Amino acid sequence: MALRSIRTEGDPDLLKKSRPVEKFDRRLQMLIEDMFDTMYDAEGCGLAAVQVGVLRRLVVIDTGEEGERLVLINPEIIETQGEVREAEGCLSIPGKRGVVCRPGKVTVKALDENGKEFIRTGTGLLARAMCHEIDHLDGILYSSKVERWLAPGEGE
Ligand code: NI
Repeated sequence: MALRSIRTEGDPDLLKKSRPVEKFDRRLQMLIEDMFDTMYDAEGCGLAAVQVGVLRRLVVIDTGEEGERLVLINPEIIETQGEVREAEGCLSIPGKRGVVCRPGKVTVKALDENGKEFIRTGTGLLARAMCHEIDHLDGILYSSKVERWLAPGEGE
């Protein structure tokens, strides 16, 4: 298990656009494993490569509810439906939570860790996590979309 340090707000890399993943090699597999380890250690449900300082279009998600580890490489949102306002947080902005409007249902096209294309539709927390993490790949932090910040302990 290898933990990588999580970049926090103020780090200029978090505002940069990540480049596509091109090589599906052992180095990529190690990065994916490290990202899961780092995310679980920090008790998050999603992590983008840029958050550990790698500017490539890769995210890992595990919402718990879905009971699976999801790897999205070079993801694209191909369909969205509805609007849901709920609180979210980010491992790069520790200790804060704010309400963000996201689609209620999201369909994403992505490559898996072997470079094979797949399509995944998610609702609820999974839809929110996919949108939040894909935003990271474009240098967008959820703080720029927050409609209302929550007081500490509110809505938990
Ligand atoms: Ni985040």
